[in-house]
Amino acid sequence: MHKIFLSFVFIAVVAALLISGCAKENEETLFPDIQLDCDSTILTVSFATDILPTIEGQCYACHNNVLQNGGVNLEGYSNIRLRALSGQLVNVLTVDRSSNNAMPPGSSLPQSYSNNLINWIEGCAPEN
Ligand code: HEC
Repeated sequence: MHKIFLSFVFIAVVAALLISGCAKENEETLFPDIQLDCDSTILTVSFATDILPTIEGQCYACHNNVLQNGGVNLEGYSNIRLRALSGQLVNVLTVDRSSNNAMPPGSSLPQSYSNNLINWIEGCAPEN
């Protein structure tokens, strides 16, 4: 009888661990763009003045609601935020210029722009 009870406890503990593991995974799959570790107090840049104008000037021509090269739409705050939090924006701006993924094609943006982008992302990427 004692053994049966112990096995029951064991199964319950394993089940609880499995269920909590799955719950966490679901949360990440359902909301892939939620960034959990950001800190809005470190924010020194503004989306409207430091982030958006460059994307509009340098990226909209090929990444907008109609034309989405590489399946990427950068028109509007929520599309930009999604690509920023996924790491893709900083990646295409800082990757080796010989890569096909280096953006914008044929020219590069100043380092200060990627630094602004990183500050904006780490500062929780608000529509400020
Ligand atoms: C002249 C057109 C053009 C401009 C301007 C342009 N892109 Fe692209 N972009 C492309 C093309 C074409 C691809 C697809 C490349 C591929 O899949 O090999 C692409 C792909 C991408 C991708 C997906 C790369 C990946 O990780 O798979 C991102 C992110 C991106 N661009 C961001 C930007 C950003 C940010 C800018 C502005 C700084 C920009 N692009 C400007 C043409 C452009």
